[in-house]
Amino acid sequence: MRSTNAMGPEFPADYPAHLVASWPLGLLPHSITVRPIRPEDIDLETEFARKLSKETRYNRFLGGGVRLTVEMLEKFTRIDFSRDMALIATATIEGAETAIGVARYARLADGVTCEFAITVADAWQGRGIGRKLLVMLVDSARGHGMRWIVGDVLATNTPMLRLARSQGFRIDWHPEGAELRRVVLGLG
Ligand SMILES: CC(C)(COP(=O)(O)OP(=O)(O)OC[C@H]1O[C@@H](n2cnc3c(N)ncnc32)[C@H](O)[C@@H]1OP(=O)(O)O)[C@@H](O)C(=O)NCCC(=O)NCCS
Repeated sequence: MRSTNAMGPEFPADYPAHLVASWPLGLLPHSITVRPIRPEDIDLETEFARKLSKETRYNRFLGGGVRLTVEMLEKFTRIDFSRDMALIATATIEGAETAIGVARYARLADGVTCEFAITVADAWQGRGIGRKLLVMLVDSARGHGMRWIVGDVLATNTPMLRLARSQGFRIDWHPEGAELRRVVLGLG
């Protein structure tokens, strides 16, 4: 069953439309929307991933030289919302929608812990979008009954470590090595 909501297009009945949020960006004629990602967003996500700088990719993929394949991008946009979550932030500039950030979590095998990652497009970093995405992701994880949200972050990634700390995450040593930290937040 599909239904229409304020976003215009029709969404499947299991689409978590309550996680849609929009706000104006300062005095600029832009608005920003965050919403759960949909399979139709694959072109937006592909373009977003293609434009990321080396440094942003390095931080997001923990140093590894990950080459995103079509299969990975399809997996990133085809979410079982009862289990996992992916939020896409878009800006509409002169009528065209562009992806400017993506945040996701995946439920781990214990069923009560999820692992998250966030990426904001280079040109949009430092404008509060990462914070907004993390707050919405944590709320969503809590709402889906998760008890812990964790993330692996490079020890050199000061922006992400500061953002996590500001949201109440504990910063732990990582079992896999000194170049990583694990950030952990209890949702109980
Ligand atoms: C880390 C990242 C998600 C932060 O998103 P953002 O939109 O740039 O961050 P915001 O503007 O929302 O800032 C929120 C907080 O992050 C921290 N922060 C952001 N940019 C920072 C910088 N350049 N230096 C230090 N801290 C920074 C601060 O604590 C900031 O709070 P403040 O403004 O009160 O100081 C973004 O920089 C990014 O995509 N980096 C590359 C990918 C990545 O590292 N992902 C994390 C892997 S899980």
